[in-house]
Amino acid sequence: MDTPLDAVSPSAYDDVRTAPRALATEAVHAGRDDLARQGLHAPPIDLSTTYPSYDSRAEAARIDAFAADGAELEGTPVYARLGNPTVARFETALARLEGTESAVAFASGMAALSAVLLARAATGLRHVVAVRPLYGCSDHLLTAGLLGTEVTWTDPAGIADALRPDTGLVMVESPANPTLAEVDLRAVAHACGSVPLLADNTFATPVLQRPAEQGARLVLHSATKYLGGHGDVMAGVVACDEEFAGKLRQVRFATGGVLHPLAGYLLLRGLSTLPVRVRAASATAAELAARLAADPRVARVHYPRIGGAMVAFEVHGDPHEVIGGVRLITPAVSLGSVDTLIQHPASISHRIVDADDRRGAGVSDRLLRMSVGLEDVEDLWADLDQALAGRPRAAEVKGLHEAMI
Ligand SMILES: Cc1ncc(COP(=O)(O)O)c(C=O)c1O
Repeated sequence: MDTPLDAVSPSAYDDVRTAPRALATEAVHAGRDDLARQGLHAPPIDLSTTYPSYDSRAEAARIDAFAADGAELEGTPVYARLGNPTVARFETALARLEGTESAVAFASGMAALSAVLLARAATGLRHVVAVRPLYGCSDHLLTAGLLGTEVTWTDPAGIADALRPDTGLVMVESPANPTLAEVDLRAVAHACGSVPLLADNTFATPVLQRPAEQGARLVLHSATKYLGGHGDVMAGVVACDEEFAGKLRQVRFATGGVLHPLAGYLLLRGLSTLPVRVRAASATAAELAARLAADPRVARVHYPRIGGAMVAFEVHGDPHEVIGGVRLITPAVSLGSVDTLIQHPASISHRIVDADDRRGAGVSDRLLRMSVGLEDVEDLWADLDQALAGRPRAAEVKGLHEAMI
């Protein structure tokens, strides 16, 4: 006879959930631990924007509690901007993978960064110390001071000296977009003292690096990239301690940059294959980096010590010709999808950064950034090889257009 689901004691279930588990196991099970007990396999998608309640007094108390500390609402949700159960599953899973108490999801990586800046600025700490390069729009948000913050750019060694009494945040990316420059997160966290360090872990993912273990208080992802993994979800997330998470939920509630539940579902599904995807793509990327480094048409290859699926390289020839020449590889901005993408940072991802600042941060006009996917390495190399050869293509492209009309 089947054991009734109710017969599984909650305490036994909790023991399983909190026992230490390997990353690959967390990737598949975190955020889903209650499903079997509920008689479910796939996580439900809750699309409700509002929830009925006959007890307004209880709702008033719950909203007061949220206003006080931003803790996740217990029980039935109230309104989708306050929290959503499907999104909460993704948050739980990502926190487990990053080794933090909590995580708070947003509509995009930029919405996540904005929430962090607003949370700090709300306490009067408007000064940010940051290390270039950062993703172009993160650089732009800080440089333009769009949220009323002020930035001091420095190198990792200069962080301690750049701190001021009103410094609310130190921000780094490692490996950085687009040069894949790495910083010693432990040393940087030490230099920050009591100022929170935000490490953008989009490129490494928790499969290769867990910045919270090295002292970062805030770990940010553009979840649009590897966490989603298939180029069809836009999202951001911050993994952090519960105290900071409460502040981020309050900002999210007040400013509205919430993640859609369907995106939460897709992200949870993406996490389950994250370790396999990142390891497979990284092996291919390392091989392509080695071949590019040995190629006389390539002036310089950037590939991080910790590995990963991103490769950047500077060509002797015209980088625009390489972009125009790929056939299998997709010439597109973004990264972390199952297919390989290539783009020219000086034209797209970092175009919005002042050209001198961009070049000063090591982003050469000849740099190409490639996000390696899951294709066969020989097929990718064959495509890169012919794109680097730069055969005349005007007639070929004209022919393609004519064939399409
Ligand atoms: C490293 C990094 N951080 C943050 C972002 C911003 O994320 P989103 O595009 O999801 O807003 C990006 C986007 O490319 C990125 O590459």
